[in-house]
Amino acid sequence: MKIFFFSAKPYDKLFFDRVNQNYGFDIEYHETHLGPHIVNAVENAEAVCVFVNDKLSAEVIEVLASRGVKIIALRCAGFNNVNLEAAKKFNMAVCRVPSYSPEAVAEHTVAMLLTINRKTHKAYNRVREQNFSLNGLLGYNLNGKTIGVIGTGKIGKAFIKIMRGFGCRILAHDVFPDSTLAQEINYCSLEEVLRASDIISLHCPLTKENHYLINKQTLVLMKQGVTIINTSRGGLINTVDIIEALKTKKVGALCIDVYEQEEKLFFRDLSANIIDDDNIQRLMSFPNVLITAHQAFFTEEALSEIAQVTLNNISLLQQNKMPKDSPTLLS
Ligand code: NAI
Repeated sequence: MKIFFFSAKPYDKLFFDRVNQNYGFDIEYHETHLGPHIVNAVENAEAVCVFVNDKLSAEVIEVLASRGVKIIALRCAGFNNVNLEAAKKFNMAVCRVPSYSPEAVAEHTVAMLLTINRKTHKAYNRVREQNFSLNGLLGYNLNGKTIGVIGTGKIGKAFIKIMRGFGCRILAHDVFPDSTLAQEINYCSLEEVLRASDIISLHCPLTKENHYLINKQTLVLMKQGVTIINTSRGGLINTVDIIEALKTKKVGALCIDVYEQEEKLFFRDLSANIIDDDNIQRLMSFPNVLITAHQAFFTEEALSEIAQVTLNNISLLQQNKMPKDSPTLLS
């Protein structure tokens, strides 16, 4: 069986080739992302394997179906980039990797928080230039601070576990609160979380309902100088609104591993290019903004799990079996 693989990077090839020794699929790797510009190149493939910034619109899915593709295998957890209605209409199975390493993302979230707070990124550069001054490096203790966690699924839970170890107070909001976790932390309304938290971390998926969850109106509710961390999806934050809030100092620090226009930027070396996205340029100009390029998942353990689960999903679907941990989203 042939799999057309999009947005392929050298590390994808390394991990998928290793796992594919047990499956023997014919994988054709393509570095470009999937979209209308390339979909017609798909040939003799029953499956496409895609990542977060591949765009599977209705138009793309229709062409895939006409070219014999039966399986859309997401090698990520989120599926906001797939038109599920269209996939259903064309009878295509969609599978994903619902959990590859929640700890990888949770630990990166903590790394970002510690970096922006204790300014280790600045200290590193300073010391290398023999500047041993502490001016401008002042941070605050995390111990005793209130952390607002929005979304308490696998990643939110892993993050909460770490932050409780720091001695933080946890306030959480979830549309489906976890009854076990509710015995240990305080669940409350979104508004209460936004009002009472020193640090707010987003761990919910991007849906139609929560698009621009962080916007002009919700920013007003927050504490002056709040720290916001987003390792979930860029569309959860209205970038224009948060830039304004950074300018007025309402937001004291921002850490983002995701960005609403990231598909034009992330996962590529653009160091010699002119970037025409003024919002990312403005964000990068703030000393209290830390941006990483969707790397929260990027650990050995996660990449290995992603390759294992993705190829297993495809193998099961090929045998008309439902993948155990990631049932087709259309059932
Ligand atoms: P999960 O499905 O285990 O948990 C998500 C939680 O969010 C659920 O408890 C759900 O009830 C809750 N939720 C849904 N809508 C909500 C809303 N409007 N308000 C509050 N809570 C809401 O998902 P998991 O594995 O914890 O992942 C969370 C998100 O992290 C993913 O959807 C994905 O966008 C992002 N992610 C980012 C990665 C990165 O490398 N930066 C890697 C993997 C996931």
